Amino acid sequence: MNSSSSVNNSADPSSKKPMLWINPGRTAAALPGNSWAGKQIGEKDIHDANSRFLRFSSVLRTLFPELDKSNGIIESPLFRVPTLQSELGLPMNCGMLFIKADHTLPIAGSIKARGGIHEVLEFAEHIGLENGLITSTDPSNLISPTGKQLLSQYRVAVGSTGNLGLSIGVIASALGFETTVHMSADAKEWKKKRLRDRGVNVVEHEGDYAAAVAAGRAEAEKDAYCHFVDDESSFSLFSGYSAAALTLKKQLAEQAITIDADHPLFVYVPCGVGGAPGGIAFGLAHVFGPNVHCFFAEPTASACFLVAMMDRSGSNPSVYDRGLDNRTEADGLAVPQASECAVAVMRPVLSGVFTVEDETLFKHVHTAAITENLRIEPSAAAAFDGPHWLACSAQGSEYLAHHKLLPYLANSIHVIWTTGGLFVPDMEYDKFFERGARSNVNSQA
Ligand SMILES: Cc1ncc(COP(=O)(O)O)c(C=O)c1O
Repeated sequence: MNSSSSVNNSADPSSKKPMLWINPGRTAAALPGNSWAGKQIGEKDIHDANSRFLRFSSVLRTLFPELDKSNGIIESPLFRVPTLQSELGLPMNCGMLFIKADHTLPIAGSIKARGGIHEVLEFAEHIGLENGLITSTDPSNLISPTGKQLLSQYRVAVGSTGNLGLSIGVIASALGFETTVHMSADAKEWKKKRLRDRGVNVVEHEGDYAAAVAAGRAEAEKDAYCHFVDDESSFSLFSGYSAAALTLKKQLAEQAITIDADHPLFVYVPCGVGGAPGGIAFGLAHVFGPNVHCFFAEPTASACFLVAMMDRSGSNPSVYDRGLDNRTEADGLAVPQASECAVAVMRPVLSGVFTVEDETLFKHVHTAAITENLRIEPSAAAAFDGPHWLACSAQGSEYLAHHKLLPYLANSIHVIWTTGGLFVPDMEYDKFFERGARSNVNSQA
């Protein structure tokens, strides 16, 4: 059944005003066969990525002693946030609010740890298998002296606004790859320094994220030994993110929460090029079927996924085509054009996209700290308005009514994905916090 939404989608991203757009193409029936650049993809890919993380757990634990506590597993907690819930204006009779705290993910300090680390592990495993150094069940020889010598003959490159570069740079250099990160003009100084301190070659570009990716891709194409991590089109990245859905299901079950038709799950994830939130939404759709409803959050100036999803011409427009300037303080989300592959997979899956102004991001950074002691970066605060949009706006109410969810709203679970922040230096973080504090005071005055 195609339950196309009849919600009034009259708002226009060119207005630069925050808005919620409902996806008329979401199908409430079982997830149809998806494809990624012509390749059939499905549930097996989610399990394969998860198995790879498990297979590499002892390698990761050896390389990163901070993973001792988790036995080499890179994961983040899921917890209830009642004080934040009331501060964000989600009435208690509209469900329970949780945070999925990817801002605490070890090694990279952001959601990018998932996809980025997965892709580098897959590349290393491929080289190890091809050279007869490891088996398909045990990759541990990759960190033997012979393994490191082998991997050091290869290079890894990536284009990034910052956080993907951090994750790729840290894992690739730890495995012994020569690593180059092409950074866009939006990337923060401290992220470049953190990489350079680890011996990563950081190339700074004057242009935006798309330009940094294009420059990195072009350079890697000239080098047969160089693997380019392509944020716009890599399925390995995407599947790495998708494995998070399996953990989320386990974490909900541990808290005695079942998701079904009477207990729907709403998930709100910040979106840049769309790989990370897309991978997660893809995984969740497989795990929870029609009972999960995923919404992406973007800065008003960089609403590339929204612009792409709204477009039916097939031209994959950029935000510049809609009169937006891609200028945002949310460096991780400063992307002018969405991944076409992620947009194609999300067309039948995504519930909607909402946008947020920069000043609101700072307010949320401050609110997250004072209500629940969460230390997040501005990009990671993009999804905070999601529950309020759903429960308290006309578009949200129409969505709930259209999907016959209103009777179950009180039983529902809302998960805001906080996507980065762990390694933000104190001086930077204090500026975010103070700006948010001032904005919050001004809006109360
Ligand atoms: C903190 C943070 N959140 C969300 C995202 C969005 O991920 P994607 O660009 O894959 O959509 C990014 C991307 O770098 C990020 O740094």
